[in-house]
Amino acid sequence: MRHLIDPMDLSVQEIEELLDLADDIIAHHEAYEKVCEGKKLATLFFEPSTRTRLSFEAAMMELGGNVLGFSSSDSSSSTKGESVADTVKVVSCYADIIAMRHPKEGAPYLASLKSDAPIINAGDGGHNHPTQTLTDLLTIRREKGRLGDLTIGFCGDLKFGRTVHSLIKALSRYEGIRYVMISPEELEIPEYIKEEVFGKHGHSYEQVRTIDEVIDQLDILYMTRVQKERFFNEADYIRLKDTYILDVPKLKNAKADLSILHPLPRVNEIAAEVDEDPRACYFRQALNGKYVRMALIMKLLGLEE
Ligand code: NCD
Repeated sequence: MRHLIDPMDLSVQEIEELLDLADDIIAHHEAYEKVCEGKKLATLFFEPSTRTRLSFEAAMMELGGNVLGFSSSDSSSSTKGESVADTVKVVSCYADIIAMRHPKEGAPYLASLKSDAPIINAGDGGHNHPTQTLTDLLTIRREKGRLGDLTIGFCGDLKFGRTVHSLIKALSRYEGIRYVMISPEELEIPEYIKEEVFGKHGHSYEQVRTIDEVIDQLDILYMTRVQKERFFNEADYIRLKDTYILDVPKLKNAKADLSILHPLPRVNEIAAEVDEDPRACYFRQALNGKYVRMALIMKLLGLEE
């Protein structure tokens, strides 16, 4: 039985196969309508979500399967003191596959040790978010036609943003990527990513403080929200939350084929006027998330043939 806890659980070849399958689902949607008939997906969300949970549920429904679950820890037995391990042990008797989001880093991994069904990490604290990574990779490949030879700017909360950590890990296995990390000093990428990911794979990165100084060089600009819920001190959040706001004037020197990504939800970091720009990919990205989750559910249930 396979789980997906960390983006590195998948080999580069498996990622390519999943993205190929997602492309095929997009092209031949009707062919997949009954693939998961009789199967159930449980979504156990101990932390809020719109896109991730609903796209998982939509993905399973579009494969002909059923869904059950909860969308906040308040509505689960964790309020009575039940452990994640027990919850998962029980839910894996009711469902064939489980997507779990939890504020504690490592909770989905712990769950995978106890579960009788495949566990998909749908976000654990500031750590990993492998299905957002698959979404991002599918979007980059569909927009750019490749996953290497790119200059990528990551902007915003690089300290707490799990989508950034996961995506950088996954990209570290592709060639020719130049990483430009755009953040205030307090929200720089964690040391472990610098050492274990950039260091180990021999990738260089640069750290800058403004979008303006690098915008003309970027093929991809990956914007992120300042992660309010992971701050210890509200005053720090308020001081940092609007450090970067991407608007139309800021795009003046950008490449004509720049792709602007954002895992969403956005708060203020991208002005609504940018949505009209064809380089804004974030809503297409959200849609891609459903297709790549369909592919992943099929793979983990052994139905991809
Ligand atoms: C992200 C997350 O939950 O980490 N959202 C998502 O899954 N699309 C990003 C965020 O919350 O800022």
